[in-house]
Amino acid sequence: MSEKVFVTQKIPEAGLEILRRELGAYDISPSDGVLTRDKILAAVKGREAVLCLLTDRIDAELLDAADGCRIFANMAVGFDNIDVAAATKRGVLATNTPGVLTDATSDFAWALLFSAARRIVEADAYNRAGKFKHWGPLLFLGADITGRTLGLVGAGRIGAAVALKSRGFGMKVLYADDRPNAEIEREVGARRTDLATLLAESDFVSLHTPLLPETRHFIGEKELRSMKKTAVLVNTSRGPVIDERALVRALREGWIAAAGLDVYEDEPRMAAGLADLPNAVLAPHIASATHWTRSRMAEMAATSIVQALQGRRPDNLVNPEAWRS
Ligand code: DGY
Repeated sequence: MSEKVFVTQKIPEAGLEILRRELGAYDISPSDGVLTRDKILAAVKGREAVLCLLTDRIDAELLDAADGCRIFANMAVGFDNIDVAAATKRGVLATNTPGVLTDATSDFAWALLFSAARRIVEADAYNRAGKFKHWGPLLFLGADITGRTLGLVGAGRIGAAVALKSRGFGMKVLYADDRPNAEIEREVGARRTDLATLLAESDFVSLHTPLLPETRHFIGEKELRSMKKTAVLVNTSRGPVIDERALVRALREGWIAAAGLDVYEDEPRMAAGLADLPNAVLAPHIASATHWTRSRMAEMAATSIVQALQGRRPDNLVNPEAWRS
C-alpha cells in the first residue's frame, strides 16, 4: 500500500523525523538521484502530499497525475520548478523554505567571490600538480577586494545579507532592485541604482534575483560587455538569469576577468567550453549545502506538509490564493 506522503529524494533526517512523528509514515524515492519523469508521474498518484525538490518539474501534467494531492512542499526557497498558476487553479498548495538558507547562501556568494577574485581553485590545482617551484612576484595575481565596489542585482533577503557581510571589507555597495532596501542603505551606505550604472561601476557583481520570465538572460552579451574588464561575476541565484553561452565568450575573450558560479542554465549541464576556462570557479549548486541549513530546509518542508494535512494553513505558502480553510 502506498502512503499518503511521498518524498521525491533522500532528504536530511530532521525532516523525515517530523513526518514520522506527526503523520506516522511516508514513502520515499528508492533512488538516490532525480526521479525520471515516468517514475515521478507514477509515484505521485494517489498521494495527499509531496515533498519535492528544485530538480522536480511540478507542471500541469504532474499536478493532474497527482489528482487529490493537497500540497507540494518544495525544499528550496526558489520555486521556479513549480507552475504556481497551474497549482493554484487546481486548489493545490505550494510552499517553499525562505529565511533558513540566507546565511549559508550569502556566505557562499562571498566564497565564490573570493575564490574567483584570488584564483584559489586555479592555484590549488597548480600546487597539487607539483608546479609550485618558488615564490614569484607575478604568480597568480588577482583582484583586490577591500575598498572596491560591490554591485548586487537584487536586494531581497540573500542579496541584503551579502551587502551586510561586506562591512569588514569597507566596500562601496550598489544595488539594483525595484524596491529600496532601507537596512542596507543605513548599515553599509548602499546606493540604489539602475542596472546599467551598477554593471559599469562595480568590481564585483553578485546576482540575487529569482528566475522569472523577465529575469531570464538578464545578464547577456550587452550587459557583460558593459562591465569592467577587471570585474568578477558571481551567481548563486538561478542559472538562466545569465546567458551562459555569452558568459563563456566573455570569460574567454576577456570582457570580464572571472566568474564564480553555483548554478547553470541547463543544470547539471554546463555550456560548451565553460569547464575549460581557468577563470571560472564552478560549484555544483551547493550554496545552501551546510548540515544545519539543509536540516532546517527539510524540517520546514515537512512541517508545511503536516500543517496542510492537519487542516492548518502552512506557514510558507507561495500561493495563498489556493488556501481554503
Ligand atoms: C534554493 O533553495 O532555491 C537553492 O537554490 C537551493 O537551496
